[in-house]
Amino acid sequence: MTLAIKYMFLLLTATLTSAWTAPEYDGFSLVWSEDFAGADDAILPNQKVWNIIDADLDVNAELEVSESRCWSSGRIESKYSFTPEAGKRTVVEAYIRFGNNSADTKQGIRHGVQWPGCGELDILEILNSQSIGRGTAHCDVPQKGRCNEPVGLNSSVVVMNQGWCVPRLIPTRPRMGRSVQPTHVITWHMNEKQFHRVTGDQIGDSGVWSTLAQTPMFFILNVAVSGTLPGNPNGKTKDGYGAMMEVGYVARGTEHLAPGGS
Ligand SMILES: *[C@@H]1O[C@H](CO)[C@@H](O)[C@H](O)[C@H]1NC(C)=O
Ligand SMILES: *[C@@H]1O[C@H](CO)[C@@H](O)[C@H](O)[C@H]1NC(C)=O
Repeated sequence: MTLAIKYMFLLLTATLTSAWTAPEYDGFSLVWSEDFAGADDAILPNQKVWNIIDADLDVNAELEVSESRCWSSGRIESKYSFTPEAGKRTVVEAYIRFGNNSADTKQGIRHGVQWPGCGELDILEILNSQSIGRGTAHCDVPQKGRCNEPVGLNSSVVVMNQGWCVPRLIPTRPRMGRSVQPTHVITWHMNEKQFHRVTGDQIGDSGVWSTLAQTPMFFILNVAVSGTLPGNPNGKTKDGYGAMMEVGYVARGTEHLAPGGS
């Protein structure tokens, strides 16, 4: 367990003394944010806000502990959850940077339903020192299905290596109309630029769409050392700062859609 905590410390080191405030955008109301502010000697994230996961969830073989090099994976999940509201665009955003080893941030939806049927929206996943980030939707059944599992519906985007970046996910939930229409849409953005979208008509099933865009969601921040992605640690796997994930804030805001709802 101490190994797991060591990793979480890396996750938060630089946020202990300097916290960022989530920005306010024109037309959007900031509904919830977490800036990781805390006492200078705080080691762990605020456990009123985060569940610290130190059990093996048996998800993608993501928990790996190496006694010899003091590695473990680290994962926190927000106690806060929300459901995208009808008649609104929801904006989910982070200010984040990664070491050049391996990191992974996801926003997931889990409520006792087996993955991927529960629906999962990966806002940004980065592997090793690649300057490519991926956004992915996972849903439906483990093989193929409406999200082409296990790959999922994904797109990639260039991420400045080790630089701060602002990944953003925008689920739009119109007030009117069936959810298998293109007005029901989830878009992925990197530093304001859209790089991925999944629509209701693409999924084509209102029940499956609901698992992605209309049921409770919570935030997951995860540094996975090994696992199905990116594979087992090897001689190039870095210790310490090279494997860090640093988060300035995570936030959620909403914007009312124009009357009529699209
Ligand atoms: C989607 O994911 C698969 C499997 O991880 C990967 O091989 C592929 O390159 C990804 N596609 C994009 C556009 O990122
Ligand atoms: C990896 O990141 C660390 C910390 O920023 C840096 O010191 C190191 O030079 C980087 N290594 C590579 C290969 O980019």
